[in-house]
Amino acid sequence: MTADTLTITRPDDWHLHLRDGAAMADVLPYTAKQFARAIVMPNLKPPVTTVALAAAYRERILRALPAGPAFEPLMTLYLTDNTPADEIRRAKESGFVHGVKLYPAGATTHSDAGVTSLAKCARALEAMQAVDLPLLVHGEVTHAHVDVFDREQVFIDEVLEPLRRDFPQLRVVFEHITTQQAVDYVLEARGRIGATITAHHLLYNRNAIFLTPEGRAGVRPHYYCLPVLKREPHRQALLRAATSGNPRFFLGTDSAPHPKGDKENACGCAGCFTAASALEMYAMAFEQAGALDKLEAFASFHGPDFYGLPRNRSKVTLERRAWTVPNELKFGDATIVPLAAGEALPWKVTT
Ligand code: DOR
Ligand code: ZN
Repeated sequence: MTADTLTITRPDDWHLHLRDGAAMADVLPYTAKQFARAIVMPNLKPPVTTVALAAAYRERILRALPAGPAFEPLMTLYLTDNTPADEIRRAKESGFVHGVKLYPAGATTHSDAGVTSLAKCARALEAMQAVDLPLLVHGEVTHAHVDVFDREQVFIDEVLEPLRRDFPQLRVVFEHITTQQAVDYVLEARGRIGATITAHHLLYNRNAIFLTPEGRAGVRPHYYCLPVLKREPHRQALLRAATSGNPRFFLGTDSAPHPKGDKENACGCAGCFTAASALEMYAMAFEQAGALDKLEAFASFHGPDFYGLPRNRSKVTLERRAWTVPNELKFGDATIVPLAAGEALPWKVTT
């Protein structure tokens, strides 16, 4: 490693939204260029609730892959109040389903079919614990009386703690954590727990939703995601966790493309598109924290170790070469505005 190039084991993205159809075919190449594998989220419409639906979705992804380095989609199922234990066993046997995603009903994009009460999922959770299939959690409560900035910490006390007490052997990934409280929970928890951290939660605090980098006021919908960006001390806690070398923390972009018109809207969708600049954004965050030497383990080792998959053997190289994030990218018959559009990033993936 020199100061101007950084070669690391090819990373994986442990939390990704690919969507479907022509839009998926447009965003998939960005991920396949940087990452060897990705955990593909199941919040399609209708959601991916069965192994048969996951198999068909996986085939569509494989068919849409461009020529280039091999890329493996790691599929997930969408947990509902009615997911049968048999479906969980079939998922484990499939070999291509690597987790089951809990979306509290109404928590985020396409979550209306989500879980209304975990008590209804006891059979499925028992089966997941028995066959050792991880539960991936969107960790936010949805009660109207809970402030949107507090939904993650309330989820820890009201949902996560009791869940892990009832299913102590269940492997859990606390997805896209955003708060000091979530960091502390993951650090202190007993049992098998991991957490993904996005690049945007490492780089931005909640001011980014309301202020330009120059400090000019205005709502900036492309910085709106769920869980929403938090205050600066939370960002600092996430940075410390990501750069700590603790194997419980690993890379998950939560790259979530939406058509430009659905973001720049009176009721704009939640989600930040980062797939086209993902590793570059993580490199920037790690470098700002003086911890570029910790990037490889976070991006390429901790995830596969947690999921019980082999680490990748191939490499990827970043060069210190400033470039500007494009203003718009094609997305089916619409466009996406990537996060940090028009801003300069210091690193560029070259292989
Ligand atoms: O911001 C988000 N966007 N958070 C999620 O949990 C879902 C995602 C999406 O699918 O757009
Ligand atoms: Zn997500």
